[in-house]
Amino acid sequence: MATKDTKPWLDTSDPQKFINNTAKFNDLMMMYRCAIREVRTKLEVLDDEFSVENQRNPISFIKTRIKKPESIYRKLQKLGCEFTPDNIVTQLHDVAGIRVVCAFVDDIYTIADLLASQDDITVLQVKDYIKNPKPNGYRSYHMIIEIPVFFSRGKTPMKVEIQIRTNGMDFWATLEHQLRYKKGIEQMDGYEEVSKELMECAVAVINMDNEMQNIKNKIGKFHDI
Ligand code: GTP
Ligand code: MG
Repeated sequence: MATKDTKPWLDTSDPQKFINNTAKFNDLMMMYRCAIREVRTKLEVLDDEFSVENQRNPISFIKTRIKKPESIYRKLQKLGCEFTPDNIVTQLHDVAGIRVVCAFVDDIYTIADLLASQDDITVLQVKDYIKNPKPNGYRSYHMIIEIPVFFSRGKTPMKVEIQIRTNGMDFWATLEHQLRYKKGIEQMDGYEEVSKELMECAVAVINMDNEMQNIKNKIGKFHDI
């Protein structure tokens, strides 16, 4: 099984070995893609069921990604670990990533709870950056889960990182990410001012999310929504 391999992958001295290792790496990435598919289906089922019962969709959209090889390599290096299949599986929790963008703040907790209560899902970690936002204003509900995926060679538990957020949180995080990842941005003149302004935008989004949630609660007293 790919995940039992503890030899580093970056030995290029032997071309045949390098080719074999590339195939093994691709195999492992295929396994993560399958795990994403399983979780996506679970989320779509929940959204479908909810929309039949409540005539609206709690999930606006779902985005998925597999961590790029160079990011996997960099993160392992940062952790002081070699680039081996075993280290990828045991040290990294975000090779498979799913972002679930919801309509309202309470939808986030509904989806998270429904997913966590499914008996084939094990929740390994939760970080609630909605109740405890990051100092820069970032908000989202993060879960690391483990889900069994059935391959011809057997059942394999796979880790998936799920980020659940509102449209507002996603709007802010996406733009903040684009700005922050500009090289050397911290050194630019007026960076502090920019950070402050980003924080103000985050607060504006929080207020908007809360206001929309209040409106939903008011309407909810008359109709199930
Ligand atoms: P990573 O090493 O980045 O995976 O961080 P971590 O292991 O400490 O996990 P954390 O839950 O804090 O963050 C995981 C992911 O959340 C990141 O890879 C981003 O996608 C997202 N994220 C976390 N903090 C921020 C932030 O300040 N801004 C934005 N835009 N995204 C963030
Ligand atoms: Mg990450």
